[in-house]
Amino acid sequence: MKFAVEVKGLRKSFVSGWWKKRKKDALKGIDLSVPEAAFWGILGPNGAGKTTLLSIISNLVTPEEGEVRVLGKNIRTHGPEICRHINLSSGHANFLWSMTVRENLRYYAMLYGLSGRSLAQKVDELMALFQLQDFAKVRFDELSTGTKQKLSLAKALVNEPRLLLLDEPSVGLDPDVARRMRETIRQLHREKSTTILMTTHNMKEAETLCEQVAFIKDGVIKACGKPHDLKRDLRLGDTILISFQGMLSVLPLQGMKGIYGLQVSDSSCRILVDDHHQWLPKILDLFIGQKVSIHDLHIQESDLEDVFIAYSR
Ligand SMILES: Nc1ncnc2c1ncn2[C@@H]1O[C@H](COP(=O)(O)OP(=O)(O)O)[C@@H](O)[C@H]1O
Ligand SMILES: [Mg+2]
Repeated sequence: MKFAVEVKGLRKSFVSGWWKKRKKDALKGIDLSVPEAAFWGILGPNGAGKTTLLSIISNLVTPEEGEVRVLGKNIRTHGPEICRHINLSSGHANFLWSMTVRENLRYYAMLYGLSGRSLAQKVDELMALFQLQDFAKVRFDELSTGTKQKLSLAKALVNEPRLLLLDEPSVGLDPDVARRMRETIRQLHREKSTTILMTTHNMKEAETLCEQVAFIKDGVIKACGKPHDLKRDLRLGDTILISFQGMLSVLPLQGMKGIYGLQVSDSSCRILVDDHHQWLPKILDLFIGQKVSIHDLHIQESDLEDVFIAYSR
């Protein structure tokens, strides 16, 4: 398998304060391999080390220890070459404040060597993709948060990167702007097979976009896998809530593999199962077999937010 990102034993600490120096270990030995054309998420609480990790992968920050290979090459020896094929967009975008949207895009496109017709074409294409045409002549410091973020994403595509690093791309966006932004990212990934590594605090966003997620806490990867597998590993399960009338015995369910918990009262029960798709027919059979009538049935699926809370503790 080819990897877009291979990180081994990565360590980074920051020293801050001028009088009383404080050392903060931001990354404490990170190993991560992201396959080419994958869409992965980096999740974790504030201060976990997510931005530091993306900054090292994009060659903006140098680690103390560890090896970083990007697109098959070592970032220490091939930094400038790698940088031509990657790009980073931050949700906390900061551009040249007195330049307009078009000027900013032109500026970054020129940094990647575009000129003449191809430069104009690329800028027009990206302005259209992110619906930035109406803001072409508006200065960066006069833009709304959402438009700043669109510009940041547009800028990140000027060099048609093979690896796109997104640091909280939807932070502070209106729900409809965030949804359109997600659609654009998803389309990019699908059509161009761009490898995407994204940090986000929005678990729904991670669950809908990311094939796999890595949870970081205190500079350490606590877990890495498909959202469904992480839920299973933590035995978070799904809750089936049923209110009923009649005499119900849940004895046949007790102790069965895949039943994590059972709570029964006179008229309702709460059953925690590994996967509700698998258990619901069996549980309904149990009710029918005992001639117990169901009044209401509700399923609560655990989601990535539950996984996040479990790993953030
Ligand atoms: N330039 C810096 N100087 C000092 N400390 C830093 C610097 N950058 C990050 N840190 C510290 O490193 C830790 C990880 O930060 P960061 O990677 O930004 O976390 P996240 O993006 O997960 O919120 C935090 O404790 C943060 O305060
Ligand atoms: Mg961050």
